[in-house]
Amino acid sequence: MESAYALVHLANGTTSIRSLAEGETFHPVIGPVAEAEALYVRQLGLAGRMAVCTDPEWVLWDVGLGSAANVTTALRHLAGIPGRLRLVSFDHTLEPLRFAREHAAELGYPLGFEGPMGALIEDHRCTFTHGALAVTWQAEVADFPERLRSPGPLPAPHAIFYDAYSPARNPAMWTLPLFRGLFARLDPLRPCALATYSRATLLRTTLLRAGFWVGAGEATGEKEETTLAANDPSLVARPLGAAWLGRALRSTSAEPLEDPVYRQAPLSEASREALRAHRQFQAA
Ligand SMILES: C[S@@+](CC[C@H](N)C(=O)[O-])C[C@H]1O[C@@H](n2cnc3c(N)ncnc32)[C@H](O)[C@@H]1O
Repeated sequence: MESAYALVHLANGTTSIRSLAEGETFHPVIGPVAEAEALYVRQLGLAGRMAVCTDPEWVLWDVGLGSAANVTTALRHLAGIPGRLRLVSFDHTLEPLRFAREHAAELGYPLGFEGPMGALIEDHRCTFTHGALAVTWQAEVADFPERLRSPGPLPAPHAIFYDAYSPARNPAMWTLPLFRGLFARLDPLRPCALATYSRATLLRTTLLRAGFWVGAGEATGEKEETTLAANDPSLVARPLGAAWLGRALRSTSAEPLEDPVYRQAPLSEASREALRAHRQFQAA
């Protein structure tokens, strides 16, 4: 059977994966490892937060597992931290993971993780040690919005990689009901930060309306700015302020998606009121 994925050689000499069905390349500009390092590992301060955490395990949600570039890069950076890491990866297909495992040598980042990746494909769960880390890795193979709505328990995360396809192509992964459901899965007593590659106004208004504190995220080499959100303001270094709110109120593409259908619209009256009343914009 022909694969639905293909290897792509990027201009900077790295190799990534392209979904032929979706017409989207994973990590298209700076490559998988550099993007994972800048956007998720460094920006979320994973190593520093994990090293001082006194919880029995550190829980990391990996939304859009894909080919596991984000997860394997994080594991390499966290190898020196003695502790327990629970990785909860979400995707409705394990085919990109299978493809990446089969092309481990060309891609590079799966090398050394072929065993856990194989076990995840077979059993949707595995445990292994990586340096000083004791890792439990589970795959939630389901439509992510549906999985959030289902009653099955999920451990509350300390950090979230949010790496779906773009809102225009993958609107079901960017709706307000989805992010409300995600926020409801957080433990209010467990600070959690979420990073994602988009800086779109529509994404940021959605996160704010779902209950997050939202800030500008670091540049990644591909994007001048990304987005960092959290349930605890101390995790958001550069919170969006009055100037951003002013621009959002004037934007023609700011209203959160209620349904999984992409469309662009200015903020509704209800959204305007909710944003103006958000705790983030109340400070002096
Ligand atoms: C950009 S790729 C992720 C790349 C990945 N993080 C990596 O490191 O290789 C987006 C992923 O989101 C998944 N996805 C898209 N819509 C989804 C949905 N409704 N439910 C679950 N996963 C979804 C796709 O199958 C795809 O693997």
